[in-house]
Amino acid sequence: MRINIRRCPSNMDILVSELLLLLGLIGWSYADIQRPDYDDTSDPEFLNPLWMANIPDDQPLSEVTMPGSHNTMALYGGVYAECQSWSLASQLRAGIRFLDIRVRHVNGNLTLHHGVSYQRGHLGHVLEGVSDFLQEYPSETVLMRLKEEFSETYDIYGAVVDYIHRYAHWDLLWHSRLVPSMGEARGKLIILQDFAGPDLGMRYGSLDIADDWKVPTLLHVEEKWLSVHEHLETTLTGNRTQIFLTYSSGAGLFAFPKAVAQRINPQLYEYLRNKTNLNQCFGIICMDFPGAPMIQTIIDFQLRNIESGKRAFNLQFGKSKLKYFTSPLTKERV
Ligand SMILES: *[C@@H]1O[C@H](CO)[C@@H](O)[C@H](O)[C@H]1NC(C)=O
Ligand SMILES: *[C@@H]1O[C@H](CO)[C@@H](O)[C@H](O)[C@H]1NC(C)=O
Ligand SMILES: *[C@@H]1O[C@H](CO)[C@@H](O)[C@H](O)[C@H]1NC(C)=O
Repeated sequence: MRINIRRCPSNMDILVSELLLLLGLIGWSYADIQRPDYDDTSDPEFLNPLWMANIPDDQPLSEVTMPGSHNTMALYGGVYAECQSWSLASQLRAGIRFLDIRVRHVNGNLTLHHGVSYQRGHLGHVLEGVSDFLQEYPSETVLMRLKEEFSETYDIYGAVVDYIHRYAHWDLLWHSRLVPSMGEARGKLIILQDFAGPDLGMRYGSLDIADDWKVPTLLHVEEKWLSVHEHLETTLTGNRTQIFLTYSSGAGLFAFPKAVAQRINPQLYEYLRNKTNLNQCFGIICMDFPGAPMIQTIIDFQLRNIESGKRAFNLQFGKSKLKYFTSPLTKERV
C-alpha cells in the first residue's frame, strides 16, 4: 500500500510559482527564436537586398507594399526597450525599407534612444548605414521617420541638417513633400519628418497611419490585432495617393515588445498568406522582430503586381516590336 504524503508548500514555493506565473503572463523567454513570422536571433534567415529593382519607374511609392521596422535601432536595454535584433545593415539587406528613428537632442548631438534607453550610437551611424546601402544597391529607396525622443527641445531641425552634411550628403535626400514615383525615389533617402521646421522631405503626418502601440497586458493583444487588421483592410478602399503605414508593434507595462510580437506576428503572417492570391497594396507594414519569410511575404505582394503588369507590358511591347520590325522589312521587299 502506497501512502501519498503531500508536502505543504512553503512560502518560498508559493513565491517561486507566483513569479513563474507572472513571467508566463508577461511572456518571458530566454531562448532566441527564429520562426517564419518572428525572429529575435542576430541574423536574418535569408536576405533580399534589391527587391525594388523590378518595380516600374512610374509606379508611385504609395502603391508599393513594403516592410518596415518599428524602433529600428532599439537593439539594447533589456526586454522593455528592445524591438529589433538585427543591425541596420542586416535589416536593409533583409528587405526592410521603412525605418523608425528616435533621437535625443543634447547640445546639438542627436543620440539614438528608445525612451530612456540609449542605443549605443547617433544619427550619423544611421545616415552612414543608409548611404552605404544605397550606394551598393542604387535601385532601392529608404524611408525614414525621424522624431525627437527623451528630450524636449522641439527644435532638432538644425541639428538634423548638420548631421546630414557631416555623415551623408544633401543630394541623398528626396527634397519634396510629394510622394515620389519609384524612379524618382531610387537611391534616395526619404525623410518622413516628424518634427517642426522647414521641409526636409515628406511630412510624417501626411501618411495614413495606424499606430495603436499601447498594449497594457498580453490580454490586450487581440484588441491590438483587430486594429492592425482593420487598418490593413482599409488599404483596399483608401486614397491611393497617400502612403499607408500600419504598425503591428505594441507594448505596455505587462507586455514587452518581444512578447507582443510573438503573439501578433503569427496572426499578421497568416493574414498576409491568406491574401497571397490577391493583387492588393498594403502600404508599409511596420513590425517588431519580423522573420525573413514574413518580410518576403510582404515583398511578394509587390512582385505579384509587377508580374501581372509585366504580362500586359510584354503583350503591348510584343505588338509594337512587330510593327517596328515589319515596316523596314516591307519597305525592303518593295
Ligand atoms: C557631442 O558629440 C561629440 C562628438 O561625439 C562629443 O565630443 C560631445 O561631448 C558630445 N556632446 C554632448 C553634450 O553630448
Ligand atoms: C486623396 O488625398 C490627396 C492628398 O491628401 C487629396 O488631395 C485628394 O483629394 C484625395 N482624394 C480623394 C478621392 O479623397
Ligand atoms: C485565414 O484564412 C482561414 C481560412 O479561410 C481563416 O479561418 C483564418 O481566420 C484566416 N486568418 C486570418 C488571420 O485572417
